[in-house]
Amino acid sequence: MHYLILNWKMNLTTTESVRLATSIVKLPSQNNLTTVICPSFSSLQGVERSVRGSKISLGAQDCYWENKGAYTGEESPRMLYSLGCRYVIIGHSERRACGETDEYINRKIAFLLSKDRRLIPILCIGESSLQRKKKRTKTILTKQLQSAFKGIDELRKIIIAYEPVWAIGSGNAANEHECAEAVGYIHDTLNSIFAHANTQRTPILYGGSVTPANVPTFIVHGYVQGILVGNAGLNVDSVSQLQQSIVIDIC
Ligand code: PGA
Repeated sequence: MHYLILNWKMNLTTTESVRLATSIVKLPSQNNLTTVICPSFSSLQGVERSVRGSKISLGAQDCYWENKGAYTGEESPRMLYSLGCRYVIIGHSERRACGETDEYINRKIAFLLSKDRRLIPILCIGESSLQRKKKRTKTILTKQLQSAFKGIDELRKIIIAYEPVWAIGSGNAANEHECAEAVGYIHDTLNSIFAHANTQRTPILYGGSVTPANVPTFIVHGYVQGILVGNAGLNVDSVSQLQQSIVIDIC
């Protein structure tokens, strides 16, 4: 199974989100490809109505690490599940830039993997441009993975997205070598954290300035099992091309 995750970020109103989701639902469905729409919280309910009964799945852009309580402004996995979400993005670099710490990310992953296993987390990791320049990419990926999985002894269903911060929204995607090296390293690190788990079953995606034109760079050699897109997911023609490109390149 391959994944196309559409992270609509804070871009669309509910009306716009419903319109785009309705168009995406009408695209020919692709075997072996799971498309997940992640709209803003305020559009989840409307988008759920559009995708209900289709092959398109729904995800949220973040969640809290408890299901209930006095946590003003937060959304819980239980609430999101009841709205139809089956996936949730955790630790996106834009959330980290707003103050999300490794410790918060660990609490969220621990809650989703160990306590309430209704939503599949899509954990985002990746280095900044300065960290890459200083050749600290592997150190950063190790730190982000070790802290996300701290205290968790069983690797349950999770998707990991390698998203170099310098590639997000910059028009400057990672090249094939950079992506392959990081993904290989993520697999090795998972193996060392979860010594007895079958870490090969954990899908690793790439995200950061993906377009229909550069999808083959990431998919064709088989080291990533899909992509996470921002800008290219905001237009139905581009989503259609992404879907087709992923499916052609898997074959
Ligand atoms: P982008 O965003 O495709 O617009 O670079 C990717 C992301 O934020 O995951």
